[in-house]
Amino acid sequence: MNILLVGSGGREHALAWKIAASPLTRRLVMAPGNPGMAALGELVPVKPTEVAQLVALAREIAADLVVIGPEASVEAGLADALAVAAIPCFGPIAAAGQLESSKAFTKAFCDRHGLPTAAWVACEDAASARTALDRFSPPYVVKADGLAAGKGVTVAPDRATAEAAIDDALGGRFGAAGARVVIEEFLEGEIGSLFVLSDGQTVRFFGAAQDHKRAFDGERGPNTGGMGTYSPAPVFTATLVDQVMTRLAIPAVKGIAAEGAPYRGALFVELMATADGPRLVEFNARFGDPECQVLMLLLKSDLVPYLLACANGTLADLPAPEWRDEVAVCVVMAAEGYPDAPRTGSAILGAEQDFGPDVAVFHAGTTRDAEGFLRAAGGRVLNVCARGPDLQTARDRAYAAIARIDWPESFHRTDIGWRALTPRS
Ligand code: AMP
Ligand code: GLY
Repeated sequence: MNILLVGSGGREHALAWKIAASPLTRRLVMAPGNPGMAALGELVPVKPTEVAQLVALAREIAADLVVIGPEASVEAGLADALAVAAIPCFGPIAAAGQLESSKAFTKAFCDRHGLPTAAWVACEDAASARTALDRFSPPYVVKADGLAAGKGVTVAPDRATAEAAIDDALGGRFGAAGARVVIEEFLEGEIGSLFVLSDGQTVRFFGAAQDHKRAFDGERGPNTGGMGTYSPAPVFTATLVDQVMTRLAIPAVKGIAAEGAPYRGALFVELMATADGPRLVEFNARFGDPECQVLMLLLKSDLVPYLLACANGTLADLPAPEWRDEVAVCVVMAAEGYPDAPRTGSAILGAEQDFGPDVAVFHAGTTRDAEGFLRAAGGRVLNVCARGPDLQTARDRAYAAIARIDWPESFHRTDIGWRALTPRS
């Protein structure tokens, strides 16, 4: 098969790693890809939102399948344009992708279809948003409605902070994504990320993980796009997985299909495991980053048949995917200054050595300079991933690999997976 993979982060590098390993893959083209992905196929410099160019590229390489990585391509309507061109696509059409691209849409959708989530109010002006705060008690949760690269959510300890977040969003900090805000109830519990695949009708569990969103050890510091993940996470008991499937994932896929927008791709259910069972925090219309990285290390089955079956509506014909009976972790190495102002350009040595079969270093924000050296080109730069028979072994392998990477201008968390290592009281 000829496959076009869209995106350039660690998530896409991990997908490319599995796709390239498939005996079904004849040609893998990545747009735009990154220096780490270059070893796995061909890179073409087209951006994820350049829909017409991507469709033209898919035609040019006679793509049998296009795989969408990032939400920006979903929102830009890449799957819609590929459907018109009759090119199979893994990744939802924009109307189904509203489950990520509009929080107000998703909240109303949950109410229409009976999905458990936090109580909410959507507001388009500051006065009504401030009034809406009266209905809740601290901590207040204020969210920009649209896609804000993981930065649109404020959990405010007091009213003044909540009001500042409202003014910030409605004042244009997130552009059009903040033209509307959602104020919602604070959910108490442990957060988790569960993934399903769907072809519009059939829904298949596709792994679960826990992400560490705060920048620094001990869950301190600013929120980030994710500093590390591990899977499986003990919070996902068989009961919780079953509840998330029956109360959130399956009703979401059925509901969005009933509204005329069949969902084909990966649906990411971010949930709070509360005392009353799982409640939705948000949906994402794609794999998690860096959750995808740990899932790919654990997936024993060939990924390509699953991606194709989602695109073609034949997921029911495939057996449940097989997973290694192991634990995987991903530790993000970020450039100093991330998330506010990452300092780019520093040189990274040793990231491309052979770390053995149980370690994979995915690139998330690198560039290669004229002399061939890797340099930091983003906030989250490398994803150092490892698997092992247990969490401790997987962690030891990941941190041993980090110790062999020479990049002084970086930082990473040293406590990824702590919840699963510390005995619970
Ligand atoms: P999100 O961008 O929706 O993943 O939100 C970022 C983080 O804010 C989440 O990972 C949670 O830790 C937190 N969060 C979001 N919504 C809520 C909520 N309703 N209650 C408690 N925490 C929340
Ligand atoms: N790691 C969280 C996300 O991909 O949104």
